[in-house]
Amino acid sequence: METVGIVGAGTMGTDIAHLAAECGFRVILFDSDEFALGKSFEKIRDRLCRYRREHRIADDRMSEVLSNIKIHSKLNDLVNADIVIESVTEDLEIKKSVFRSLDVICHQGVVLASNTSSLSITALASATKRPEYVIGIHFINPARVMKLVEIVSGMATTRETVETAKELAKKLGKVYAESQDYPGFLLNRILAPMINEAIYALYEGAGSAESIDRVMKQGMNLPMGPLELADMIGLDVVLAVIEQLFNGFSDPKYRPCPLLKNYVAAGYLGRKSGRGFYSY
Ligand SMILES: NC(=O)c1ccc[n+]([C@@H]2O[C@H](COP(=O)([O-])OP(=O)(O)OC[C@H]3O[C@@H](n4cnc5c(N)ncnc54)[C@H](O)[C@@H]3O)[C@@H](O)[C@H]2O)c1
Repeated sequence: METVGIVGAGTMGTDIAHLAAECGFRVILFDSDEFALGKSFEKIRDRLCRYRREHRIADDRMSEVLSNIKIHSKLNDLVNADIVIESVTEDLEIKKSVFRSLDVICHQGVVLASNTSSLSITALASATKRPEYVIGIHFINPARVMKLVEIVSGMATTRETVETAKELAKKLGKVYAESQDYPGFLLNRILAPMINEAIYALYEGAGSAESIDRVMKQGMNLPMGPLELADMIGLDVVLAVIEQLFNGFSDPKYRPCPLLKNYVAAGYLGRKSGRGFYSY
């Protein structure tokens, strides 16, 4: 495994590309939006330049990492990938269409992984003729920093594919937790209801945002309170994950808090929009 293909050069794809290049992989980075692709490469280059200024890396190391990344504006260029990580917009139909195309382009036996936070790996696999080679490798934001990846098996995923995903995770310096393909996998199944409950507590006036975050930070030793964390993730993303749990399990215990829906409807999406449960 020498060449990693990455489809989607947004927040996550950019960091995964940077990480893979640092770990010595050749990276083929593709995005359907050429502007996003250029911005992604610039972001990696700027970050490396900053590290060089701060004497955190040497010139030759910076050139080596950058030379490992090739940006491509045609999906067909992924033909030489030994493994592909799809990290496009969280939309089942868009992702299915990417998997359908990758299945035609990539060599037989190449593992096609998705970085989806919540969509069904089994459904993505069904868009291909190689469901046994489709798997979830769910990175956590920021992908270069957070230690864990979730490795998610769809209904048809073979052990051999799981082993390939584990090997990649290890080479990227990650630890992994294995999960079956149920809504939210493990991390979001536990995290999203906690955040939703914190929002219900605020909605019902049980405590202020500051009090809710303080009890979880100082009472439970969490590095961030649930509302601060929701603002960092993006409230639209949080709502989408909770809705995925609600619909996926058909269980009212996951019903999204109306206050969260109102925030999203108002465009108060957290840090990225300057306002969420806090102002930025
Ligand atoms: N942001 C997070 O905190 C986070 C954490 C873990 C996993 N994820 C998952 O990672 C994936 C990407 O999320 P993100 O936050 O990087 O999104 P993003 O919006 O920053 O980036 C998505 C990129 O996909 C590109 N794209 C859309 N359709 C495409 C297509 N058909 N072909 C090629 N490129 C296409 C877009 O141009 C964009 O650059 C999602 O599945 C998301 O659930 C996100």
